[in-house]
Amino acid sequence: MSREPMERPEAVIPPYLRGLTYDGVKGLCITRIDTPPAGEVLTIECGEEDQSQEQLLEDAGKQFHAYTHKHQSYPAAVRLSTGVVFGLGVDYQEASAAAGCSILPQVKGSTSRSDVVRNKIALVTGGAQGFGEGMVRGLAAEGAFVFIADMNLTGATALAETLNAEYGRTTALAVEVNVTDESSVEKMLYEVTQLTGGLDIFISNAGVLRAGSVKEMTLRDFNFVTSVDYVGFFICTKHTSRVMALQHQGSSDYRADIIAISSKSGLEGSNKNGAYSGAKFGTIGLTQSFALELVTDGIKVNAICPGNFLDGPLWSDPEKGLFVQYLQTGKVPGAETLGDVRRFYEAKVPLGRGCTTDDVMKALLYCVEQHYETGQAIPVTGGQVMLN
Ligand SMILES: NC(=O)c1ccc[n+]([C@@H]2O[C@H](COP(=O)([O-])OP(=O)(O)OC[C@H]3O[C@@H](n4cnc5c(N)ncnc54)[C@H](O)[C@@H]3O)[C@@H](O)[C@H]2O)c1
Repeated sequence: MSREPMERPEAVIPPYLRGLTYDGVKGLCITRIDTPPAGEVLTIECGEEDQSQEQLLEDAGKQFHAYTHKHQSYPAAVRLSTGVVFGLGVDYQEASAAAGCSILPQVKGSTSRSDVVRNKIALVTGGAQGFGEGMVRGLAAEGAFVFIADMNLTGATALAETLNAEYGRTTALAVEVNVTDESSVEKMLYEVTQLTGGLDIFISNAGVLRAGSVKEMTLRDFNFVTSVDYVGFFICTKHTSRVMALQHQGSSDYRADIIAISSKSGLEGSNKNGAYSGAKFGTIGLTQSFALELVTDGIKVNAICPGNFLDGPLWSDPEKGLFVQYLQTGKVPGAETLGDVRRFYEAKVPLGRGCTTDDVMKALLYCVEQHYETGQAIPVTGGQVMLN
């Protein structure tokens, strides 16, 4: 069967090609100039004029690595035959000096709602399944390039392959991370910046839940939940914000987004679920505090507080989902079937249903589109929890 010719891949436009910079403690600090650079310059031939961004990056990456391997050092600057020049250095000053230029502001805010995330580079932690998978899919559908960052590399890779086949181009890449491990988060950001030169949207979504009575919960379980749901957000923001802050230095109009996925349990206590609820409340405290600090770096920090994702694996997994657990433990009075348990939770929601990833995507797009808000926690709870 003959196939239609594949549509030319829509270009990934890395922040550096938009005139942004990256703190290259481990590699590149990148800028774009219109005057010839000073110092030793590696020129990279980029092949055909209509070469896709993906091929361009791959070619540029190979030639760059070949150079560094041969010389055991970085060049002062890299010129692509497309006319783009990257200054290299361990910080912004060094890189722009190497490139012999001042930075040109390049980034314009989106003009249309449908373009809010188009061509942006996003990363979703815990993106292999559940809400994370839904956001990965939603972002790809909206034209973003998405890193699926998860401990479950197999799941993340399978999702990336599915999406890339669906779209006929590379729109997602898997990257392994454990958000509780600082060196793993650093490595993830290194890989991301090496591949795309930076990122525009970071979604701190990886989360775990271990419910239990305060009288019985082990410290080990409490610490486990806290380390992923609370400390993980700190570690990720620490390293992501450093990359994003440099991007802002390169272009003062530029705005990046860090979005934490908190929960309705971050707005209201949750019975026998204190570790989770405490971490989710804490996430909002961090969101507000980070937002105050990072506003001068052009980074908005907001949280989204979804209600129960009743169709997601956490609730609906046929073996260890909460519906099964709650039926078995008799948590829902009088419930005899999984359907009874589900109806009990649906009845708690004024809008009568569980939260979906579409609901969360709308809040996510709002966070990115809205330039006049930071430090907020946006409920997406069907009215179950209201702000006061
Ligand atoms: N499911 C809900 O009803 C609900 C409601 C409100 C908020 N949330 C929040 O939404 C987020 C996603 O929840 P979900 O139900 O989709 O979860 P899930 O359990 O379906 O998926 C979580 C993903 O995170 C990954 N992960 C776990 N620990 C990690 C770590 N240390 N480092 C990297 N990846 C890790 C897992 O491999 C998995 O792919 C969580 O923060 C959760 O608290 C969920």
